[in-house]
Amino acid sequence: MVRLILDSSAGSYPVVIGSNIHRELRSVVTRLDPTGVAIITDSNVRPWAVKVSKSIKRAGLKTAIHVIPVGERSKSMNQLQEVLAFLERQRIDRGGCVIAVGGGTVGDLAGFAAAVWQRGIRLVGVPTTLLAMVDSSIGGKTGVNGTRSKNAIGAFWQPSAVIADLATIETLPPASYRDAFAEVVKYAVAMDRGLFDLLKRERPRLLAADRALLESVVFRCVTAKALVVAKDEREKGPRAILNYGHTAGHALEAASGFRVSHGRAVAFGMRVAAEIALSMDLCSKRLVESQDELLTAYGLPDRVPHVEPARVLAAIPRDKKARRGKVAWVMPRRLGRAEPGHAVPSPLVRRAVTRALA
Ligand SMILES: NC(=O)c1ccc[n+]([C@@H]2O[C@H](COP(=O)([O-])OP(=O)(O)OC[C@H]3O[C@@H](n4cnc5c(N)ncnc54)[C@H](O)[C@@H]3O)[C@@H](O)[C@H]2O)c1
Ligand SMILES: [Zn+2]
Repeated sequence: MVRLILDSSAGSYPVVIGSNIHRELRSVVTRLDPTGVAIITDSNVRPWAVKVSKSIKRAGLKTAIHVIPVGERSKSMNQLQEVLAFLERQRIDRGGCVIAVGGGTVGDLAGFAAAVWQRGIRLVGVPTTLLAMVDSSIGGKTGVNGTRSKNAIGAFWQPSAVIADLATIETLPPASYRDAFAEVVKYAVAMDRGLFDLLKRERPRLLAADRALLESVVFRCVTAKALVVAKDEREKGPRAILNYGHTAGHALEAASGFRVSHGRAVAFGMRVAAEIALSMDLCSKRLVESQDELLTAYGLPDRVPHVEPARVLAAIPRDKKARRGKVAWVMPRRLGRAEPGHAVPSPLVRRAVTRALA
């Protein structure tokens, strides 16, 4: 088990990573001394939420569980309203606490509910997907989708604790597990050379979800994200490095009508970014090849369903992070170091995207 303390503008909070860590969860929640506990989960994760609830009840706390439907569509104003109505029915007051037990969908929705209920109550994250453990449970971004745009409505709201129980990964669908490795490779290439080597060396054990190794992988990713977020909580500059692979990635995701999963799209986006960086003499051919091999080794091959390159190219300037159509690319420089803020001539983007889709 590892335990780290992260700093945020709202104070510091513990992140605990381990297996079957109910006792830690119970002691963390007990220390918060909440007047009431509302657990939010989705129907697939419900059995884990029941375990969390039982564990907390043993500390003499009152808990209730609200189950949302599975899937991204639950990140909506309608579901937010349902969660808020639940908090109201449960008489959760300003001293209460929300526990989000689930993946990023539950985390974003429950986190946003915690941010707005009573102008903000405490939030504990219990991420149950690898993606939520390495990415969405850290950093304080919460929210729901607009009718047309993803994550359009939200708030920065930092958790009071995050408890990542690796035992939950056991029931995770393999595709979700594999997809999360795109983000893990992102941290490795952009920020952590040691993680890159670890991923390369320990592939069979990691693909078999070896808990001890997963613990160090999650720890390294959380640390990498936390370091960036600490410098730039509200995403004004340095946090952009976390967007490595996401410029072309988001464009492919949108252009495919979300047929291509986020992880696959990010893997595509990292390949495109590295190809561009090579053509601009910003990185070596060896980096492009090493990244490519690692992605393929983790089940993220370079083939994606056919999407017209023109559609992907058209979606790039529409990226949320573009300003007045100007896209700032995150470019890999060497393994473990990427650099945000690069302007790229459009012919280079066109060539890299077209090649990656060929
Ligand atoms: N806030 C942030 O900083 C941030 C960062 C990245 C992604 N996100 C958001 O996260 C969401 C994606 O998160 P996700 O990939 O975790 O998806 P998810 O929460 O939708 O979970 C994926 C699927 O796995 C199921 N599941 C979750 N945990 C399980 C478990 N332990 N056992 C069995 N099934 C389980 C869920 O029910 C769901 O069907 C997106 O909405 C994305 O926008 C947010
Ligand atoms: Zn991502």
